Amino acid sequence: MRTIEWKDGVVVTIDQTKLPNELVFLKMEKCSDVSSAIENMKLRGAPLIGVAAAYGLALTAFHSKAKKREGLIREIEESAEILRKTRPTAVNLFWAINRVVKKAQETSGDAKAVAKAIIEEAQRMADEDVEVNRKIGEHGSKLIGDGDVVLTHCNAGSLATVDYGTALGVIRSAWNQGKQIKVIATETRPKLQGARLTAYELKRDGIPVTLITDSMVGYVMSKRLVNKVVVGADRIVRDAVINKIGTYNIAVLAHEHGIPFYVAAPTSTMDLSHTSDDAVIEERNPEEVTHLRSERIAPKGIQVINPAFDVTPMKYVSAIITETGVLSPENLKTLHGSSKG
Ligand code: MRU
Repeated sequence: MRTIEWKDGVVVTIDQTKLPNELVFLKMEKCSDVSSAIENMKLRGAPLIGVAAAYGLALTAFHSKAKKREGLIREIEESAEILRKTRPTAVNLFWAINRVVKKAQETSGDAKAVAKAIIEEAQRMADEDVEVNRKIGEHGSKLIGDGDVVLTHCNAGSLATVDYGTALGVIRSAWNQGKQIKVIATETRPKLQGARLTAYELKRDGIPVTLITDSMVGYVMSKRLVNKVVVGADRIVRDAVINKIGTYNIAVLAHEHGIPFYVAAPTSTMDLSHTSDDAVIEERNPEEVTHLRSERIAPKGIQVINPAFDVTPMKYVSAIITETGVLSPENLKTLHGSSKG
């Protein structure tokens, strides 16, 4: 299921806020359509927001009236600034924007030549994402055995990437190799990515999936109903993995129960020049907590905090699965140096 596509100056994506009840495609014609889709989580997931931002810059390039390269580069930098303000935590967003801006700056010739290079770079990044996820799946599937029950949190599947997924890519690869596995998906309050998206994707592929609420994780682990955990990541810093709120609880519980806790993520999610102290955790609208869809479930005026992500210290992480192979948290140091903005 390809989640984003370039069609002659229009970017088409799935409106994920409508899933699983309706499969609605959203047409984005200008960069501001992309930035609001990211902000409103019509598209979400670290790798996908990165590629979407690259396509947003491609839209600016495609529709620009600039004749001189300097004029186009100025427009690209303005669009990049708007995209950078959409969501602060997933590093893939900044990685993708920086890569496209660099491509624009390095391309010689007139505005037309630069625009062409930007559009091609965005397309390349989309294709690369699928390739990277397949490699993550291949490497990670070696950690999954026949008969395993794998717990995953949030949605790190096709819908969070261009296709195939990171954590769900590992699960898909193991399943495609004929391993009889089962998945437990947490619902993932408050935005319900597990219930709405992971359950949808896995059911569609015929992979057995059981849905639980977030607060049931301790119970299923204590009853040995799960024996591996695989989650995605929004930013991997030197000392921690930053991922969807609730990941930290699951990692601590997995540690307590002796269950391996794996993180599947592309190297574009690595931010090894920083530590968790530097990371910005996105704080979202309190209504996501006080309301279920449009229905209020808490008294008016109640105080709320709504961090979208949490920080899991590396000591709880058994291994990190990337497109280059399976790394122990200690191996991460060998990758240090790939600095991101
Ligand atoms: O707020 P979201 O839905 O964008 O958060 C998504 C996650 O936390 C995913 O686990 C992460 O981006 C990895 S997706 C391959």
